[in-house]
Amino acid sequence: MISLAATVLQRFRESFTSEPTLYFSPGRINLIGEHVDYNDGFVMPAAIDKGIYYAVAANNNKELHFYSMDFDEWLTVAVADIKKMNNWKNYVLSVVNEFLLLGHDVKGFDCVFAGDIPRGSGMSSSAAVEGGLAFALNEMLDAGLNRVQLALLCQRAEHNFPHVNCGIMDQFANMMGRQDEVLLLDCKTMEHQYFPLQLQGYKIVLINSKVHHTLVSGEYNIRRQRCEEGLAILKNQLNIQSFRDITRVEDLMQYKSGMTEKVFNCCLYVIEEIARTKKAAAFLPQDNLIEFGKLMYATHEGLSKLYEVSCTELDFLVELAKKDSHVIGARMMGGGFGGCTINIVKEEAIPRFIETISKEYLQQFDIVAEAYVVATADGTRKLPVTP
Ligand code: GLA
Repeated sequence: MISLAATVLQRFRESFTSEPTLYFSPGRINLIGEHVDYNDGFVMPAAIDKGIYYAVAANNNKELHFYSMDFDEWLTVAVADIKKMNNWKNYVLSVVNEFLLLGHDVKGFDCVFAGDIPRGSGMSSSAAVEGGLAFALNEMLDAGLNRVQLALLCQRAEHNFPHVNCGIMDQFANMMGRQDEVLLLDCKTMEHQYFPLQLQGYKIVLINSKVHHTLVSGEYNIRRQRCEEGLAILKNQLNIQSFRDITRVEDLMQYKSGMTEKVFNCCLYVIEEIARTKKAAAFLPQDNLIEFGKLMYATHEGLSKLYEVSCTELDFLVELAKKDSHVIGARMMGGGFGGCTINIVKEEAIPRFIETISKEYLQQFDIVAEAYVVATADGTRKLPVTP
């Protein structure tokens, strides 16, 4: 079977005369620490072996030529005319725009890209699109940005044209991920450490609900606003900088009456999730997967009931997982409103788990779920180009 990397390369060679450089930019999973990256919390993501392949070469004619194989769409734009557009175009153009904002002289390039991250699955194909192009441009322009600076550039890019006020988790995992390891990232300071992903006979399985509710970015930004509103009230009353400084839920309770119910619930979730992630990070090196798994279920509960970013389909998948004694933890993953659940499943029970969950899901929603056994991978990188 011809690899996706080879297909991208071939397509580039059919379309342009120059010889490209090839890059791979991964998607990510997140074990725990959901919707807290933009709340100065902690997250535990890892880069995975699914992602976006990019073939890129300079053309020096002050034009950008993109071909998205997944959308089967071309985009040609003069560097001088870069502006906000729509869909995938916003993600690539916004990355180029960030290099322009830094004062780099973009002389034009040709680019073909394609990915194997299922769309809307919550594995952050957007960060993979941004990261691959940013990495390529950093090399092409000799911009000298390190990986953390590139992650921050990609985050700014996502805020700018696509107007999703995301946190740093996805872009950080995309650049800094390492095979067989998970990150523990402090999203306030960018301090991070790596843990070996040794799951003692268990594996991570993603179940794709295949639902992707509309208005996701709008709802995402609304959650962020609710948190900002709540934090402003708390900062006024308590001597704190961020949610992590509140270590007792009672401190929040005192100010409940001054907040709307939705704002209060978001604050409660964030405070609890920050504490949960710290606890979970301590369980992992102790090989205490059982306790780790319980915290994942608690996260789901919070995301569903308090933060309100789950949906019927995801709740159903997590409930099913809970009933299976070979699953020690499950929850929705990523931004929410659809996408995947992440499950920690006993290795020999995986085929049965997938079969049962798929069958019941099909019966309930008439949707064929997809399952992926996750393999972690290194962050965005150059690949060898085959002749
Ligand atoms: C999306 C965002 C991330 C993060 C997650 C939720 O993936 O891009 O920054 O907020 O949602 O944890």
